[in-house]
Amino acid sequence: MSSLEKKLRDALQLQKEIFGDDLFVLKEEKIFESEIKTTEKIGKNLNDSLFDEPFQKAESLEELDSLINTCTKCELSRTRTKFVFGIGNPHARAMLIGEAPGADEDKQGEPFVGKAGKLLNDILKAIDLTRDDVFIANILKCRPPGNRDPLPSEMETCMPYLYKQIELINPKIILCLGRIAANGLLNKKLSLSALRGNIYEFNGIKVVVTYHPAALLRNPGWKKGCWEDVKKFKKLYDELN
Ligand code: URA
Repeated sequence: MSSLEKKLRDALQLQKEIFGDDLFVLKEEKIFESEIKTTEKIGKNLNDSLFDEPFQKAESLEELDSLINTCTKCELSRTRTKFVFGIGNPHARAMLIGEAPGADEDKQGEPFVGKAGKLLNDILKAIDLTRDDVFIANILKCRPPGNRDPLPSEMETCMPYLYKQIELINPKIILCLGRIAANGLLNKKLSLSALRGNIYEFNGIKVVVTYHPAALLRNPGWKKGCWEDVKKFKKLYDELN
Protein backbone atom coordinates (compact mmCIF):
# COMPACT_ATOMS: atom_id res chain seq x y z
CA MET A 1 0.00 0.00 0.00
CA SER A 2 1.41 3.37 -0.95
CA SER A 3 1.74 6.06 1.71
CA LEU A 4 -1.11 8.02 0.05
CA GLU A 5 -3.36 4.95 0.21
CA LYS A 6 -2.41 4.43 3.85
CA LYS A 7 -3.17 8.08 4.67
CA LEU A 8 -6.56 7.78 2.94
CA ARG A 9 -7.37 4.54 4.74
CA ASP A 10 -6.42 6.03 8.13
CA ALA A 11 -8.46 9.19 7.48
CA LEU A 12 -11.52 7.15 6.49
CA GLN A 13 -11.10 4.86 9.49
CA LEU A 14 -10.95 7.87 11.80
CA GLN A 15 -14.01 9.42 10.21
CA LYS A 16 -15.86 6.11 10.61
CA GLU A 17 -14.87 5.83 14.28
CA ILE A 18 -16.05 9.33 15.08
CA PHE A 19 -18.95 9.88 12.77
CA GLY A 20 -20.26 6.34 12.29
CA ASP A 21 -20.96 4.13 9.32
CA ASP A 22 -22.08 6.80 6.89
CA LEU A 23 -19.37 8.01 4.63
CA PHE A 24 -19.84 11.73 4.39
CA VAL A 25 -18.70 13.08 1.10
CA LEU A 26 -19.27 16.77 1.38
CA LYS A 27 -19.23 18.96 -1.64
CA GLU A 28 -16.63 21.66 -1.59
CA GLU A 29 -18.50 24.77 -0.56
CA LYS A 30 -17.44 28.20 -1.55
CA ILE A 31 -17.85 30.68 1.27
CA PHE A 32 -18.86 34.16 0.21
CA GLU A 33 -18.08 37.25 2.32
CA SER A 34 -21.74 38.24 2.05
CA GLU A 35 -22.67 35.14 4.06
CA ILE A 36 -20.96 36.50 7.13
CA LYS A 37 -23.31 37.91 9.75
CA THR A 38 -21.57 40.66 11.65
CA THR A 39 -22.31 40.93 15.34
CA GLU A 40 -22.16 44.46 16.64
CA LYS A 41 -19.67 45.08 19.40
CA ILE A 42 -21.39 43.78 22.44
CA GLY A 43 -22.49 46.13 25.22
CA LYS A 44 -20.63 44.61 28.13
CA ASN A 45 -17.43 44.59 26.24
CA LEU A 46 -13.72 44.86 26.37
CA ASN A 47 -13.75 48.60 26.59
CA ASP A 48 -16.60 49.58 28.84
CA SER A 49 -17.65 49.77 32.49
CA LEU A 50 -15.61 46.81 33.69
CA PHE A 51 -12.44 48.38 32.43
CA ASP A 52 -11.45 49.50 35.90
CA GLU A 53 -11.33 46.01 37.34
CA PRO A 54 -7.74 44.85 38.04
CA PHE A 55 -8.04 41.78 35.79
CA GLN A 56 -8.54 44.07 32.78
CA LYS A 57 -4.90 45.12 33.12
CA ALA A 58 -3.60 41.54 32.75
CA GLU A 59 -1.01 41.30 30.02
CA SER A 60 -0.84 37.52 29.78
CA LEU A 61 -3.12 34.55 30.30
CA GLU A 62 -1.14 33.45 33.38
CA GLU A 63 -1.58 36.88 34.91
CA LEU A 64 -5.29 36.86 34.08
CA ASP A 65 -5.69 33.38 35.57
CA SER A 66 -3.99 34.44 38.80
CA LEU A 67 -6.21 37.53 39.04
CA ILE A 68 -9.53 35.75 38.49
CA ASN A 69 -9.19 32.19 39.78
CA THR A 70 -10.23 33.17 43.29
CA CYS A 71 -13.38 34.86 41.98
CA THR A 72 -16.34 34.90 44.38
CA LYS A 73 -18.68 37.08 42.30
CA CYS A 74 -21.40 34.46 42.08
CA GLU A 75 -22.79 31.56 44.08
CA LEU A 76 -20.97 28.99 41.91
CA SER A 77 -17.76 29.89 43.73
CA ARG A 78 -19.22 28.26 46.87
CA THR A 79 -19.85 24.90 45.24
CA ARG A 80 -16.92 24.62 42.80
CA THR A 81 -13.94 22.39 43.48
CA LYS A 82 -11.71 24.09 40.93
CA PHE A 83 -11.95 27.23 38.85
CA VAL A 84 -11.63 26.13 35.21
CA PHE A 85 -9.74 28.91 33.43
CA GLY A 86 -9.17 27.20 30.09
CA ILE A 87 -6.24 25.54 28.40
CA GLY A 88 -4.28 25.48 25.19
CA ASN A 89 -2.05 27.50 22.98
CA PRO A 90 -1.93 31.12 24.21
CA HIS A 91 -1.26 32.25 20.63
CA ALA A 92 -3.86 29.97 19.02
CA ARG A 93 -5.51 31.17 15.84
CA ALA A 94 -8.60 29.22 16.85
CA MET A 95 -10.54 29.14 20.11
CA LEU A 96 -13.17 26.60 21.09
CA ILE A 97 -15.80 27.80 23.50
CA GLY A 98 -17.99 25.48 25.56
CA GLU A 99 -20.67 26.07 28.13
CA ALA A 100 -19.41 25.32 31.64
CA PRO A 101 -17.31 22.77 33.51
CA GLY A 102 -18.92 19.42 34.32
CA ALA A 103 -18.04 17.08 37.18
CA ASP A 104 -14.71 15.87 35.70
CA GLU A 105 -13.63 19.38 34.73
CA ASP A 106 -14.54 20.70 38.19
CA LYS A 107 -12.33 18.02 39.76
CA GLN A 108 -9.37 18.46 37.40
CA GLY A 109 -9.55 22.19 36.71
CA GLU A 110 -9.36 21.67 32.95
CA PRO A 111 -12.08 22.03 30.29
CA PHE A 112 -13.40 19.04 28.35
CA VAL A 113 -11.57 16.23 30.11
CA GLY A 114 -14.56 13.87 30.49
CA LYS A 115 -16.33 11.75 27.85
CA ALA A 116 -17.39 14.82 25.90
CA GLY A 117 -13.77 15.94 25.94
CA LYS A 118 -12.64 12.65 24.44
CA LEU A 119 -15.10 13.13 21.59
CA LEU A 120 -13.92 16.71 21.17
CA ASN A 121 -10.32 15.47 20.81
CA ASP A 122 -11.48 13.03 18.11
CA ILE A 123 -13.37 15.76 16.27
CA LEU A 124 -10.24 17.93 16.32
CA LYS A 125 -8.19 14.98 15.06
CA ALA A 126 -10.64 14.45 12.19
CA ILE A 127 -9.88 17.97 10.96
CA ASP A 128 -6.17 17.54 11.52
CA LEU A 129 -5.92 19.67 14.66
CA THR A 130 -4.95 18.88 18.24
CA ARG A 131 -5.65 20.56 21.56
CA ASP A 132 -2.22 22.22 21.25
CA ASP A 133 -3.37 24.08 18.13
CA VAL A 134 -6.32 25.73 19.86
CA PHE A 135 -7.33 27.36 23.13
CA ILE A 136 -10.36 25.87 24.86
CA ALA A 137 -12.44 27.85 27.34
CA ASN A 138 -15.98 27.93 28.65
CA ILE A 139 -18.54 30.67 29.09
CA LEU A 140 -18.66 29.85 32.82
CA LYS A 141 -15.49 29.09 34.72
CA CYS A 142 -17.22 27.27 37.58
CA ARG A 143 -19.49 24.24 37.50
CA PRO A 144 -23.23 24.78 37.89
CA PRO A 145 -24.41 22.21 40.47
CA GLY A 146 -25.85 19.08 38.86
CA ASN A 147 -24.77 20.43 35.43
CA ARG A 148 -27.85 22.64 35.21
CA ASP A 149 -27.90 25.33 32.51
CA PRO A 150 -25.99 28.49 33.41
CA LEU A 151 -28.23 31.27 34.74
CA PRO A 152 -28.30 34.52 32.74
CA SER A 153 -26.88 36.35 35.78
CA GLU A 154 -23.98 33.87 36.01
CA MET A 155 -23.23 34.29 32.32
CA GLU A 156 -23.29 38.06 32.59
CA THR A 157 -20.92 37.96 35.56
CA CYS A 158 -18.48 35.56 33.93
CA MET A 159 -18.48 36.85 30.31
CA PRO A 160 -15.95 39.65 30.92
CA TYR A 161 -13.38 36.97 31.80
CA LEU A 162 -13.96 35.27 28.46
CA TYR A 163 -13.82 38.59 26.60
CA LYS A 164 -10.47 39.29 28.24
CA GLN A 165 -9.19 35.83 27.29
CA ILE A 166 -10.25 36.51 23.70
CA GLU A 167 -8.51 39.89 23.76
CA LEU A 168 -5.24 38.33 25.01
CA ILE A 169 -5.28 35.31 22.70
CA ASN A 170 -6.48 37.33 19.72
CA PRO A 171 -7.82 34.33 17.74
CA LYS A 172 -8.93 34.68 14.15
CA ILE A 173 -11.72 32.14 14.42
CA ILE A 174 -13.92 30.69 17.17
CA LEU A 175 -15.90 27.45 17.22
CA CYS A 176 -18.83 27.65 19.66
CA LEU A 177 -19.85 24.29 21.08
CA GLY A 178 -23.59 24.32 21.60
CA ARG A 179 -26.46 26.79 21.84
CA ILE A 180 -25.55 28.23 25.22
CA ALA A 181 -21.95 28.97 24.24
CA ALA A 182 -23.03 30.59 20.96
CA ASN A 183 -25.87 32.66 22.40
CA GLY A 184 -23.61 33.72 25.27
CA LEU A 185 -20.78 34.86 23.04
CA LEU A 186 -22.92 36.42 20.33
CA ASN A 187 -25.47 37.89 22.75
CA LYS A 188 -28.34 36.18 20.99
CA LYS A 189 -31.34 34.09 21.99
CA LEU A 190 -31.58 31.67 19.07
CA SER A 191 -32.10 27.94 18.71
CA LEU A 192 -29.09 25.85 17.73
CA SER A 193 -30.62 25.14 14.33
CA ALA A 194 -30.94 28.87 13.69
CA LEU A 195 -27.34 29.42 14.79
CA ARG A 196 -25.71 26.55 12.90
CA GLY A 197 -24.73 27.00 9.28
CA ASN A 198 -24.04 30.72 9.65
CA ILE A 199 -20.70 32.40 9.86
CA TYR A 200 -20.79 35.19 12.40
CA GLU A 201 -18.23 37.85 12.99
CA PHE A 202 -17.61 38.92 16.57
CA ASN A 203 -15.35 41.94 16.93
CA GLY A 204 -13.67 40.94 13.67
CA ILE A 205 -13.30 37.27 14.62
CA LYS A 206 -15.13 34.64 12.56
CA VAL A 207 -17.48 32.45 14.59
CA VAL A 208 -18.88 29.04 13.59
CA VAL A 209 -21.41 27.16 15.72
CA THR A 210 -21.83 23.42 16.11
CA TYR A 211 -23.34 20.88 18.48
CA HIS A 212 -22.03 20.45 22.00
CA PRO A 213 -20.05 17.15 22.16
CA ALA A 214 -22.17 15.96 25.12
CA ALA A 215 -25.27 16.40 22.94
CA LEU A 216 -23.57 14.32 20.22
CA LEU A 217 -22.97 11.54 22.74
CA ARG A 218 -26.69 11.52 23.53
CA ASN A 219 -27.75 11.90 19.87
CA PRO A 220 -25.22 10.20 17.57
CA GLY A 221 -27.47 11.01 14.59
CA TRP A 222 -26.42 14.64 14.88
CA LYS A 223 -22.78 13.80 14.11
CA LYS A 224 -23.28 14.27 10.38
CA GLY A 225 -24.34 17.88 10.97
CA CYS A 226 -21.36 18.37 13.26
CA TRP A 227 -19.07 17.06 10.55
CA GLU A 228 -20.48 19.62 8.11
CA ASP A 229 -19.94 22.41 10.65
CA VAL A 230 -16.38 21.46 11.51
CA LYS A 231 -15.45 21.08 7.84
CA LYS A 232 -16.64 24.65 7.30
CA PHE A 233 -14.69 25.76 10.39
CA LYS A 234 -11.53 24.03 9.11
CA LYS A 235 -11.92 25.55 5.65
CA LEU A 236 -12.09 29.04 7.17
CA TYR A 237 -9.15 28.16 9.46
CA ASP A 238 -7.04 27.03 6.52
CA GLU A 239 -7.86 30.20 4.64
CA LEU A 240 -6.59 32.44 7.44
CA ASN A 241 -3.54 34.43 6.53
N1 URA B 1 -18.98 20.75 28.80
C1 URA B 1 -18.61 22.03 28.59
O1 URA B 1 -19.33 22.83 28.01
N2 URA B 1 -17.38 22.38 28.99
C2 URA B 1 -16.55 21.55 29.59
O2 URA B 1 -15.45 21.97 29.93
C3 URA B 1 -16.97 20.23 29.78
C4 URA B 1 -18.19 19.83 29.37
